[in-house]
Amino acid sequence: MAIQRTLSIIKPDATERNLTGSINARFEQAGLRIIAQKRLHLTRAQAEKFYEVHKDKAFYDSLCEYMSSGPVVAQVLCGEDAVAQNRKIMGATNPANAEIGTIRRDFGQSIEHNAVHGSDSPENAQIEISFFFSQLEIVE
Ligand code: CMP
Repeated sequence: MAIQRTLSIIKPDATERNLTGSINARFEQAGLRIIAQKRLHLTRAQAEKFYEVHKDKAFYDSLCEYMSSGPVVAQVLCGEDAVAQNRKIMGATNPANAEIGTIRRDFGQSIEHNAVHGSDSPENAQIEISFFFSQLEIVE
């Protein structure tokens, strides 16, 4: 398996509950390295752009409103098979269906307030990483 990068976002429900360090510990304990990180408050337009792929979904409007409702922490995670590894650590999108010990099961509150986002493929990881970070901000 190859060393990969993936984009992670700690969502407003988790930053509001001061869970950034607890969530970062999950990544590091699993062997993923945080090679870039920034806290920011997305505008509604930025959230709409980031989640453009979901624009035809019924939940798009609410998702964009929520993702621009408070601070997020965007980060680049690096490691062996990082995209799949991060998805395993996060757990299923809906915390109610996520395995015990995953971030979403332990910290998520609902399918929308589900604590974290992670890229779903290496191709999307590249696109999502460049949405938030320049090459200069990523330090291996
Ligand atoms: P995320 O990994 O950030 O990717 C898209 C997000 O849309 C997803 O996590 C959920 O938070 C949200 N989402 C997916 N399905 C639904 C749904 N049925 N209702 C509300 N939000 C959803």
